[in-house]
Amino acid sequence: MCGIVGYIGKQQAAEIILNGLEKLEYRGYDSAGLAVFDGEKINISKSVGRLKALEELTHGGETMPGNIGIGHTRWATHGEPSETNAHPHLNSKGTIAVVHNGIIENYIKLRNKLTKKGYEFKSETDTEVIPQLIDYYYKGDPLEAISKVIHRVEGSYSLGIIFEDHPGEIFAARKSSPLIVGKNDSGSFIGSDVPALLKYTRKVYYIGEEEIVRLTPDEINFYDADGEEIEKQITEIKWDANAAEKGGYDHFMLKEIFEEPKTVRDTLNPRIRDGRVMIEELNMTDEEIRDLRKIVIVACGSAYHVGVSARYVLEGMARIPVEVDVASEFRYRNPILSKDELVIVISQSGETADTLEALRLAHSSGCKVLAIVNVVGSSIAREADSVMYTWAGPEISVATTKAYSAQLIAAYLIAIKFAYARDMISSAEMKEYIEDLKKLPDQIDLLLGGKERMQRFANRYVAARDVFYIGRGIDYAIALEGSLKLKEISYIHSEAYAAGELKHGTISLIEDGTLVVSVATQKDLYQKEISNMVEVKTRGAFVMAVTNEGNSEIEKAADYVVYIPETNKYFANSLAIIPLQLFGYYISVGRGLDVDHPRNLAKSVTVE
Ligand code: AGP
Repeated sequence: MCGIVGYIGKQQAAEIILNGLEKLEYRGYDSAGLAVFDGEKINISKSVGRLKALEELTHGGETMPGNIGIGHTRWATHGEPSETNAHPHLNSKGTIAVVHNGIIENYIKLRNKLTKKGYEFKSETDTEVIPQLIDYYYKGDPLEAISKVIHRVEGSYSLGIIFEDHPGEIFAARKSSPLIVGKNDSGSFIGSDVPALLKYTRKVYYIGEEEIVRLTPDEINFYDADGEEIEKQITEIKWDANAAEKGGYDHFMLKEIFEEPKTVRDTLNPRIRDGRVMIEELNMTDEEIRDLRKIVIVACGSAYHVGVSARYVLEGMARIPVEVDVASEFRYRNPILSKDELVIVISQSGETADTLEALRLAHSSGCKVLAIVNVVGSSIAREADSVMYTWAGPEISVATTKAYSAQLIAAYLIAIKFAYARDMISSAEMKEYIEDLKKLPDQIDLLLGGKERMQRFANRYVAARDVFYIGRGIDYAIALEGSLKLKEISYIHSEAYAAGELKHGTISLIEDGTLVVSVATQKDLYQKEISNMVEVKTRGAFVMAVTNEGNSEIEKAADYVVYIPETNKYFANSLAIIPLQLFGYYISVGRGLDVDHPRNLAKSVTVE
């Protein structure tokens, strides 16, 4: 997520903005910039890399005099990290400056319309359409222009806006991306998150959906999307700075689990339009998709587990053969690849050494490589032939959760597009799949509501020695990820098994009280999975089942059941994983461990 800070008041704005951006560094970014009005015009400074570069460039803000300004730390989504793409962005006349956090989903359509009206664009960003569109509607009343803009743009945004001919005011607006405002005796402030304002005030206003704010040094006014003034309640922040960085959550992992509904929406929405899946970045014609003989998916860790899920979905929907491999094996097994195969590499960081080398090996065999990546401009993103970004925002906790969920969405979208291109599904079926996908964020929200119940259950197993996860089909892929989530942050030994494999060895490990987590979301496999639960129960296991609402028959075999909302069988992974992420998190918390920084692990494994 990007960071936004703005100030208007008696003091110099630049230093306050830089200080506020420093407090937002934890959100992750790749470039930064600020815009300050110096009494005559808006001056801009931008830099790539750490905030320190911007502080040095502006001598701590001294080269940017003025008492009204906005600043930004950018986490790239559209357009590589560069000075040109860094915010603030200006209208062509340079009289309106904007900083933005979020994704403008219809920016291509807006950019094309504005270009036809003579507007010139300098950057590759979605954001740049905002100052230009404001300019298009601007007739001297900022509120009126902003109101028109927020009725036109689709997607998520928190905005900071300054107008050269309105130097006594800053404007802000928000939809889906958080934004807060506050004031003290020196002036008024905007910020993406509490840490940016804590030094100046603990009394803040949380901006609501499609609300507009007008800030002067002495007062703050709020308006609805139509420019009608509204009243808002003030909130007093009780958190300390450390808690504030986590949005009030105890750990980044829990914060990121609770961001999953937004992550799913942000990855999904820009790629579904008029009942169709549109993946422009795929760079493949329907004919090329039809000519594909096989797909090879290569990744590591949780990303590999996404690949295991994706195989069931792609083969089930698109009837295309899929091979999945861990990158560290793929690299050295001298794989047999041919030009009519597509290699898909999946990586949150885009820097995992084994996955990057697997990509290079695929290229050397003449294969086209599609990357599913979260970090814009990362090595894997740069070297792949096409990149499908997951737009999960920066993922701070070492254990991946929201990026994993976003990767699943990317895999589902590819499967639907390939299935339709290969005439395996009708447009009606495609629409049905899309409707099921659109329900996922709210269904995840529903499951997050069960966190206390999961915490209570987890507390019973903080001293567990062995935990087994079992499942069949896609449920096996979920079992793999659930087991890894537990292992990597609680240090409890765990194994994931294809449930049918138990009788081939593992079942000898089941003792009295051994916890077995059985994932059973595939209706056609319920009976098989129930019999596997009975197998382990009769040998003393305690069985926790994760299954679909309505499958109450499972209560005959399971000791503890977590129900997930009904969804398409191919998308069940996105729901079943939520209680398992929470389970692993609360076990780690119960053991008093450093959830976000587990021992021996790095967020990105850039070495072999
Ligand atoms: C998952 O929680 C782990 N952090 C780890 O398995 C991770 O998924 C793996 O290292 C791959 O990382 P990447 O997605 O950045 O390539």
